Amino acid sequence: MSQARQQLAEQLAETVFQGLQEDLSHQDRVLLVVSGGSTPVPFFKALAAKSLPWDRVDVTLADERWVDEQSSDSNAKLVREHLLQGKASAATFIPLTCTTATPEEGVDEVAKRAETLAWPASVVILGMGGDGHTASLFPDSPELTLALATEELLVAVRTPSQPQPRITFSADRLHQARRHILHITGDDKRAVLAKALNGDDVRQLPIRAFLTCPLAIYWAP
Ligand code: 6PG
Repeated sequence: MSQARQQLAEQLAETVFQGLQEDLSHQDRVLLVVSGGSTPVPFFKALAAKSLPWDRVDVTLADERWVDEQSSDSNAKLVREHLLQGKASAATFIPLTCTTATPEEGVDEVAKRAETLAWPASVVILGMGGDGHTASLFPDSPELTLALATEELLVAVRTPSQPQPRITFSADRLHQARRHILHITGDDKRAVLAKALNGDDVRQLPIRAFLTCPLAIYWAP
């Protein structure tokens, strides 16, 4: 881990901590929406060390791969191993999978669970892939139009470029959050972001769906 990425993770953790604290001063419970993938691990560790009333914090994911929670591809596993540790182990984690074989069969059950959370989310931290996807809003997914337009909470997604089916919060649900942050590292992602900032076709680079909200960009080389 480069020093710059570690610093970035710590600064992001401080910002998220402040946002959650602010909302906790006037709400019983707050909701934090995090992303999976490889980038967030040092951020999760830095946030887990913060002194918050974690028993009043709900944590969920922007999206999830429809795999067993024990799988190394599970974003839930990542969150449990790196964020729900130490002080943060008192937080409540709401997974986006259930026991059904497919996300299409499980999406209603997961939505019922997610609907009870303290929306709007206090903070959404997004990642971004080299193809401009964020959450599971992929440029090549047949469900992209639906996920960008629906007012439903969650959408089951099948994407040719991805090995597993997925489930994602809709763009609308993520939009409604109080604070949006994009956490990315490396020159390749800087170039993708630059491209995204230079155009409007959301279907080409779905991260553009979030360039209409105030989006704080946390980037390090
Ligand atoms: C996932 C994510 C996804 C992620 C990007 C970036 O489940 O894969 O939620 O949207 O944020 O793919 O992933 P990396 O951090 O691994 O580059």
